[in-house]
Amino acid sequence: MSFKKSLLVLVTGVSLTSLGIAGCTTQQRDFEAEAQSPTLTGQTETTQVQTPTATPTTQPQERPGDVPYVPTPEAVVDAMLEVAKVGKDDVLYDLGSGDGRIVNTAAQKYGTRGVGIDINPERIQEANANAQKAGVTDRVQFIQQDLFNTDFSEATVVTLYLLPDINLKLRPKLLRELKPGTRIVSHAFDMGDWKPQQTLTVDGRQVYYWVVPEEVPANLK
Ligand SMILES: C[S@@+](CC[C@H](N)C(=O)[O-])C[C@H]1O[C@@H](n2cnc3c(N)ncnc32)[C@H](O)[C@@H]1O
Repeated sequence: MSFKKSLLVLVTGVSLTSLGIAGCTTQQRDFEAEAQSPTLTGQTETTQVQTPTATPTTQPQERPGDVPYVPTPEAVVDAMLEVAKVGKDDVLYDLGSGDGRIVNTAAQKYGTRGVGIDINPERIQEANANAQKAGVTDRVQFIQQDLFNTDFSEATVVTLYLLPDINLKLRPKLLRELKPGTRIVSHAFDMGDWKPQQTLTVDGRQVYYWVVPEEVPANLK
C-alpha cells in the first residue's frame, strides 16, 4: 500500500471511531435524560426523585388524637427519668411521644432503648429528626399508632403526659399488659384510685410514679 493510501485508511478509521464514540455518548445521555423524565418514571413534574434513605415513612392520621400536643419542659423530663431510675437495660415507651424528647433524652443520657408512640404523623417526623440531631437513632424508634392499639408489653418503663380521663381509660390496659415491676411515670395527671408510690413537684408541675404490682387489686382492673 502506498503511503497516500495508508494515510487515507488511517484518517477514515479514526473519524469513524470518533463518530461512534460521540454517537454512543450522545445516545447514553439521551437515554439517561429520558429515564429521568416524568413520562418514563410516571412522576409528575413536582415529584422529587426518591433516593433511598433511612428516614421512616408516615401515613395520614387515622383519627384525631385524644390529647393535644404540649411538650413536657426539659426539667420535668429529667425528673421523670430520674424518679424511674432509667438505665441502659430499660425499654422505655412514651405513650403519646410528641417531639420525642422523653425517649431521646433517655437514650442520650442513660443509653436507654426507647419507643415513642404518637398518632400524629407530624410529631413522628419531628421526633425522628430530633433523634437524628441527638445521635440516638440506633436506640430509639417512633411509631405512628393509636396508643390504645399498641402492644407495649415489652416496656420496663412507661411515661405519660396525657389527660386525667385518658389515664383512667388506659389504666386497665397498663395493669393487664405490663409486667410486674414495670415503672410508670406520669406528668401532671394521676390515675384515680391507683395511688402513686411517689409524687414530686418540679417547677410547679406534678410528677406521679407507680410500679406495676404482682397482684392487681380488683378495683383497678
Ligand atoms: C401532651 S403531648 C405529650 C408529648 C410528650 N410525651 C411530652 O411529654 O413532651 C400528648 C401527645 O399525645 C399524642 N396523642 C394523643 N392521642 C393519642 C393516641 N390516641 N395515640 C397516640 N398518641 C396520641 C398527641 O399527638 C401528642 O403528641
